[in-house]
Amino acid sequence: MAWAVGEQLQGGRYRIEAVLGEGGFGITYRAWDSVRADQVVIKVLNDSLREDPDYPRFQQNFMNEALQLARCHHPHVVKVEEVIWEQERWCIVMEYIRGQTLHQLLRQKGPLPLPEALRLTREVGSALMALHEQGILHRDVKPSNIMVREGSGQAVLIDFGLARGYTQGLIQRHTSYGTDGYAPLEQYDSLRRRGAFTDVYALAATLYTALTGMVPMCAPVRATGRQLDTPRSLNPNIPEVVEAAILKGMALHPEERPQTMAEWLALLPAEASQQGRKPVAFEPAIRTQELRELEQVLAQTPEPQDGLEQLLASHSAEELEQLVAPPTPATAKKAGREEGSGSLIFPEVCPEERGKGGSLPGTLSWPEWVGEAAPALQGLWDRLRAGQWGEADRWTTALMLKLAGRSQVGFFDPKDVQAFPCPMLRLIDQLWVRASHGRFGFSVQKQLWQGCDPGGTSIGRSRSFSALPREECMGEAVGWRIQGRWLGYGELKTSLDAPPGHLPVGFFWGYSGGLRSALLTLDRVVLKKLKACF
Ligand SMILES: Nc1ncnc2c1ncn2[C@@H]1O[C@H](COP(=O)(O)OP(=O)(O)O)[C@@H](O)[C@H]1O
Ligand SMILES: [Mg+2]
Repeated sequence: MAWAVGEQLQGGRYRIEAVLGEGGFGITYRAWDSVRADQVVIKVLNDSLREDPDYPRFQQNFMNEALQLARCHHPHVVKVEEVIWEQERWCIVMEYIRGQTLHQLLRQKGPLPLPEALRLTREVGSALMALHEQGILHRDVKPSNIMVREGSGQAVLIDFGLARGYTQGLIQRHTSYGTDGYAPLEQYDSLRRRGAFTDVYALAATLYTALTGMVPMCAPVRATGRQLDTPRSLNPNIPEVVEAAILKGMALHPEERPQTMAEWLALLPAEASQQGRKPVAFEPAIRTQELRELEQVLAQTPEPQDGLEQLLASHSAEELEQLVAPPTPATAKKAGREEGSGSLIFPEVCPEERGKGGSLPGTLSWPEWVGEAAPALQGLWDRLRAGQWGEADRWTTALMLKLAGRSQVGFFDPKDVQAFPCPMLRLIDQLWVRASHGRFGFSVQKQLWQGCDPGGTSIGRSRSFSALPREECMGEAVGWRIQGRWLGYGELKTSLDAPPGHLPVGFFWGYSGGLRSALLTLDRVVLKKLKACF
């Protein structure tokens, strides 16, 4: 940390009183300003960034945007007082806002009554409109970056993405940025264009939380086809028009959202029509406490073994294409059905170890022959480098089924395994091996499974290396069978401390009898395939 409590800056003008927050980019202090005789907030780039070769550029960008922000006088934008140079660091001095963040408020009081939630949203929306006009995007709108003033209850937007727009590498190197329910899909991909629509998503998601008490399911998980819980399924008192506005603002693909803040705000019911209306009391379909309990139960319940089969059976080939392919303007379509449960309170899936593959490139150049599968492989790679191993596994299976023309069936036959193209298998394997630093992948599995193979092509070697039946030996080798018990798909470990070769499940997904029956059906042919390909 840069400064200790009590430390004086600018020749004694400012005295550090407390650390308010320490994020990936900056440290936020509360300080006493002896000239104004008032408290202020001082924000400085995080010290850990100083080791980065790009630090001077981050610093310059941080300051440039601060200066731009300082020129933006708006009742709902935090006021920048000045920028100071202190101990070889640029710092931003801001107004200290008495009150609490919307996040704290929601935690304390639960979901807000509709008129209050809409008022706060409009206030933040008007602040964002003013900023957008100046060419500034916030990029990190969420309840913890909105202060609600004590007394007046007015919303003030804080914590601008001061360093964010320019620092594609930074995102991967230094922070778990974008790993929550408020960041739209484009925030997860440093190469995608951001715009006013990026802040539209985040503000719509903030309204979702303000009215339901839930953090929405995060965008990358939605991109795999899981459906967001609709606001009204969580709080039936939300009017349809408000739900429609939230969902429109939270459209997964940027081009399906209103393109400006003004357009999105216009979807919300007019303020006048709110007056005289009885405030809508919050009566969620399920109470927060029950949801917490349910979440715990769900965490312990294995997913249905034929989850993918169901998924595949309930989607047309075209819809499946959407699931497998990452969103691009060319393939973007409206989300289909409104079912399936999302995340409860805080989504469990998104903040998985982002940045573990941090030093890896954002995009890979695919060989020519990959052809139409390139976007799908990019989607897989995005999940892998984000450390979302569970999602990456589903993605892999869906992609492999699609390539084998088995999407509708949902599982592989020996002949599909035989016919699966080796170059593609090797490519998928390389992605897994690379992202997991050698822990996961087909080639890893092959090494382990060879020990269970009774003899390969050699007629003379007829005895298995292991005393166990081959499928059991193979299951134990990769940790799908632990001390004699077979795991269900939902019980597989989706973190890097899983046994080597634990993922991906690959050809073995989709059998109603689970992994054991899949191995019984396919182990010979899969091992043969792996030997032929690697
Ligand atoms: N101007 C401010 N007035 C009062 N409190 C603030 C102000 N700016 C930030 N805070 C408090 O400090 C916390 C962290 O600051 P923030 O700017 O959001 O940085 P980060 O999220 O990067 O840590 C906020 O959540 C809020 O509680
Ligand atoms: Mg913040």
